[in-house]
Amino acid sequence: MSNPISDADHTDPLALERPRGTDWPEILAIDARAFALPKPLPSDEMIEFRNRAGEGDTVVIRDTASDGRPIVAVALYFPVPVTVPGGTVATTAGLSWVSVSATHRRRGLLRRMITEEYRTWRERGLPLATLTASEGGIYERFGFGPAVFAHQVSVEPRAAEFRTPVPADSRVRYGNQEQIAKHVPAVHARWAAGRTGAITRPETWWPSIMADRSFRRNSQTSGLHHLLHVDGYAAYRIDARDKTAIVEDFVATTEQAHTDLWRVLTGLDLVSAIKASIPVDDPLPLKLHNARAVQVQGRSDQLWLSILDVVEALQLRTYAAPGDLVLDVTDGFGDRAGRYRLTVADDGTAQAARTDDPAQIGIDIATLSSVYLGGISVRQMTCAGRIDGQTEACAQLAAMFAVEEAPFAGTFF
Ligand SMILES: CC(C)(COP(=O)(O)OP(=O)(O)OC[C@H]1O[C@@H](n2cnc3c(N)ncnc32)[C@H](O)[C@@H]1OP(=O)(O)O)[C@@H](O)C(=O)NCCC(=O)NCCS
Repeated sequence: MSNPISDADHTDPLALERPRGTDWPEILAIDARAFALPKPLPSDEMIEFRNRAGEGDTVVIRDTASDGRPIVAVALYFPVPVTVPGGTVATTAGLSWVSVSATHRRRGLLRRMITEEYRTWRERGLPLATLTASEGGIYERFGFGPAVFAHQVSVEPRAAEFRTPVPADSRVRYGNQEQIAKHVPAVHARWAAGRTGAITRPETWWPSIMADRSFRRNSQTSGLHHLLHVDGYAAYRIDARDKTAIVEDFVATTEQAHTDLWRVLTGLDLVSAIKASIPVDDPLPLKLHNARAVQVQGRSDQLWLSILDVVEALQLRTYAAPGDLVLDVTDGFGDRAGRYRLTVADDGTAQAARTDDPAQIGIDIATLSSVYLGGISVRQMTCAGRIDGQTEACAQLAAMFAVEEAPFAGTFF
């Protein structure tokens, strides 16, 4: 029994299908193999994971000419809520678990699956798509651009002396299971609503995050320790091999909570370094007498974005300056090419519409997606030769798209 997609080419032995419930163990096995994981997700985790995706959100490709008609490719998407500049939380199509068997790579299977998913997203009226990328060279051709970045830092505890005096009470406590379950999702949601680029974790994601299953850590690392603050929390584990503390999750909705939590983390006894992934404009180094106590060891693209509906996406966010510009958007993959007028009022809200008027700005859809949240500035893209326009028009676009705070996603999916 197969579950073909209606517009698939039925003469092609590589058949694009919707999976059935019984296909999931095979799907997870091929994903584990493609992502070079030691083993597939265990069955309890598989059920939670499946609950994240809805009906019709997964596509597979079956090799119908091979014995057993094996699944050779899979892609799915979750609804992933992301906060855009101005505070609107947009439901994005979060593309994930994309894999093609090594035996069938570079035969266009990824392109076929993304084409089908893109059709579904457009049909469902989703304004944006997101993903976390395994490699940087794959997704631009489909209209995605890296949009949110993070710094991987190592903090030297003995060099991390805060400029502000040590308070009599740290205002931070280790939480028990009940306190963690009550506090963490609530404060995370509060944080995500106020931070551009943040992913609001849907309710169905929390059980697996909270469970901190043993297969997610190696045998030398501890379980998660949760530090709770009224306006934040930090979850870290200890790696016994080199006595480092690895911060897996850090949320602070106030600067006081940020300082209080980091003060406890940098005061952990017997710990040689604290490793964390932080926003690129995190104030931590500036709160210390010696900013070099925070060493940036890497910079990663945390979240990729693709604007699916240009008019709706441009209207979803707010802008830093008023103005009126026509953008000529190019798109080598989907149906987004065309000219769009973006008019921003004095209060930062925008109207957008397709137009035949002459354009002042030329921009590719992946580039527009990269500057949308402010993770890459219009000025940087203009310097890189990826935005065309007269100097004044580019400066106007830069002023409109400017953001005060770097976006930060905070969740991998
Ligand atoms: C990455 C992967 C999904 C590609 O699948 P595939 O079926 O071989 O890709 P396709 O043949 O459809 O290629 C589509 C396009 O992407 C390009 N491409 C594919 N993999 C690429 C890579 N790793 N780097 C750069 N470009 C790549 C192809 O050249 C092709 O370009 P074109 O259509 O513009 O000519 C597959 O190699 C894989 O499963 N890798 C391991 C898991 C993984 O990394 N998944 C991605 C998760 S974010």
